[in-house]
Amino acid sequence: MSSAIPVIVPVITIDGPSASGKGTVAQLVAARLGFHYLDSGALYRIVAFATLQKNIAWNNAQGVSECAKTLNIEFVNEQVFLNGQEVSNEIRTEAIGKGASQVAVHPPLRAALIDMQHAFCKAPGLVADGRDMGTVIFPKALLKVFLTATTATRAKRRYQQLLDKGQPANYEHILQDLQERDARDQSRASAPLVMADDAILLETDNLGISAAVDTILRNYQHKICK
Ligand code: C5P
Repeated sequence: MSSAIPVIVPVITIDGPSASGKGTVAQLVAARLGFHYLDSGALYRIVAFATLQKNIAWNNAQGVSECAKTLNIEFVNEQVFLNGQEVSNEIRTEAIGKGASQVAVHPPLRAALIDMQHAFCKAPGLVADGRDMGTVIFPKALLKVFLTATTATRAKRRYQQLLDKGQPANYEHILQDLQERDARDQSRASAPLVMADDAILLETDNLGISAAVDTILRNYQHKICK
C-alpha cells in the first residue's frame, strides 16, 4: 500500500525594514507565481489597534499577548478583518505602525502569533513578508530575500505615499519615526530585524519595483531548476 506523498510547499521570505518596498514587491511576486501572501506586519498592527481599543497599554506584555489570542483575524484578498469588521485602513496609520513596533518586542506575543503565520503555508506556495520570516518563522524557506534602502530613501517614499493619499506629512517627523522604529526592530531581544545568513540582499535605492520583482523571480527559478 502506498502512503500519501506529503505536499511540499515552496516558501519565499522577504524581510526588511519599514518602507523598504517589501510589501509591494512581495504581493507582486505572489501574484506572478499564484502563491498565497502573508503580510506579517499586519498581524502586529492589528494587535496594536485592538489593544488600543481595549485600553491595554502597548508595554503590557501579558495583556497584549492575552488579547492577541482572542482575536479573530481574517485576510480576504487585500482586505483585513478583525472580529468580522474591516480594519484595512485603520491599521495603516503611522500611529498604529509605531504601536505595532512596540507590541512586537514582547516574546509572548510573538509566540502567540506563530501558528497563525504557519497556517498561511499552503499549496501551491507562499510569499511571506516581515522582519523575521526567514530567520524565525520559516527558517527552511526555499528563497530568502532581505530588501532594504537607506533611511532617507525610505522616508521620502513614506512621505510621498502619505501625500498621494491626501494625508498630512512631515518629512522630518517621518525620518525620525523610521529611525526609532528601525532601532527598536533591530535591537529587541526576541526575533530582531536581521538579515538571514542565507538571504540574498536587494538594495532598492536605485532599483525599481519591477526590477526587484524580476530579480526575486529569477533567483526563485534558479533555486527550483538548478
Ligand atoms: O511591516 P510593517 O511596517 O507593517 O510592520 C509593523 C511593525 O510590526 C514593524 O515595525 C515591526 O516592529 C513589527 N513586525 C515584526 N515582525 C514581523 C512583521 C512586523 O516585529 N514579522
